[in-house]
Amino acid sequence: MVTGNDAMNRQVVILRAPTGPLSADDFGLREAPAPIPRADEALCRTLLLSLDPVNRGLMVRGGDYRAGLGPGSVMAGFAVAEVVEAAAQGGPPTGSVVFGELGWQELAAVRADSLVPVSGLGPLSHELGVLGVNGMTAWFGLTEIGRPRPGETVVVSAAAGATGTVAVQLARHTGCRTIGIVGSAAKVEVVRELGADEVVVRAEPRELRAALRAAAPDGIDVYFDSVGGAVLDSCLALMRPHGRVVCCGTLAAYDAENAPPGPRGVPALVIAKRLRLEGFVVLDFLSRWPQAQAALAELLRAGEVRAVEEIVDGLDRAPAAFVDLLAGGNIGKRMVRVAHKADL
Ligand SMILES: NC(=O)c1ccc[n+]([C@@H]2O[C@H](COP(=O)([O-])OP(=O)(O)OC[C@H]3O[C@@H](n4cnc5c(N)ncnc54)[C@H](OP(=O)(O)O)[C@@H]3O)[C@@H](O)[C@H]2O)c1
Repeated sequence: MVTGNDAMNRQVVILRAPTGPLSADDFGLREAPAPIPRADEALCRTLLLSLDPVNRGLMVRGGDYRAGLGPGSVMAGFAVAEVVEAAAQGGPPTGSVVFGELGWQELAAVRADSLVPVSGLGPLSHELGVLGVNGMTAWFGLTEIGRPRPGETVVVSAAAGATGTVAVQLARHTGCRTIGIVGSAAKVEVVRELGADEVVVRAEPRELRAALRAAAPDGIDVYFDSVGGAVLDSCLALMRPHGRVVCCGTLAAYDAENAPPGPRGVPALVIAKRLRLEGFVVLDFLSRWPQAQAALAELLRAGEVRAVEEIVDGLDRAPAAFVDLLAGGNIGKRMVRVAHKADL
């Protein structure tokens, strides 16, 4: 066994349920004894921790597809990890690198059947970003739900983020007129460099709608919605007949005390324009990730898609990095390095 009997496990725990914007003070660092895995669990050591906005919601109310976390809980998070002790009942072998939900901690005992081997098609950081959840979300959201055709107009919200940077590049690669929406002027150039034809900065509803109308004078065929609220409202009004809205996430709600009001025009606009609004959860496509990862790896090799990512060093920096991400401080996939593989 790699960890000794007296090995300790550093963890980031939730101190209190946030009300309003998250603060780093809502978290604390704790040292706990290293977990002892059950027969069906593998002991894993976190290498890279994924920062995902949806996990902010779990701190107060739980998500639509998993339970919430109370004060004292280890913060939830996916990670790329090394198996340091394989489960007695089988599963990934000791030494293998896997993707799983470990939480914000150095060591976790995780059900072996929930661990997924990494693709091995690029550097480890890509396994959390472009070849991981975010790349898969952009891929399946576009190919399965949005289904853009060459020449159509695609709008991507949170376009400078982990999912958005991949969605913009895939839409562009498909031959679509591609428009990104970002939260600040500082991100405009980043999204343009990824191939967007136009980039619109999020603004008050009236201003945003005018900017979108100027960027998409013929209307929107596919809207990749990671935001909800006023941004969805503005895009919905500009959809072309038979347009598709990819309902991916609700960023406008995650760090707010009250969820923003839903869009107007539902269902009247949806009916009149024959729109399709469809939600999806990327984990539902897990069995098809290998094909999508291979296709994305090929696009990366060909230089058609670029990985945009930021690595913050140290578990203790995860709270501040997450707070800043929710405030729009990230460009591309932000993750936290907890250990180097060579450190093991
Ligand atoms: N359906 C699925 O299976 C699935 C899977 C993974 C992720 N997602 C969703 O995909 C979306 C993007 O996630 P990500 O991990 O790629 O995060 P991300 O875009 O890298 O980071 C979050 C971004 O949200 C934006 N933001 C913050 N507050 C906002 C607000 N009030 N209104 C609009 N935008 C705001 C900020 O960008 P700006 O500065 O540009 O505003 C920030 O950079 C999220 O909604 C997430 O839940 C869905």
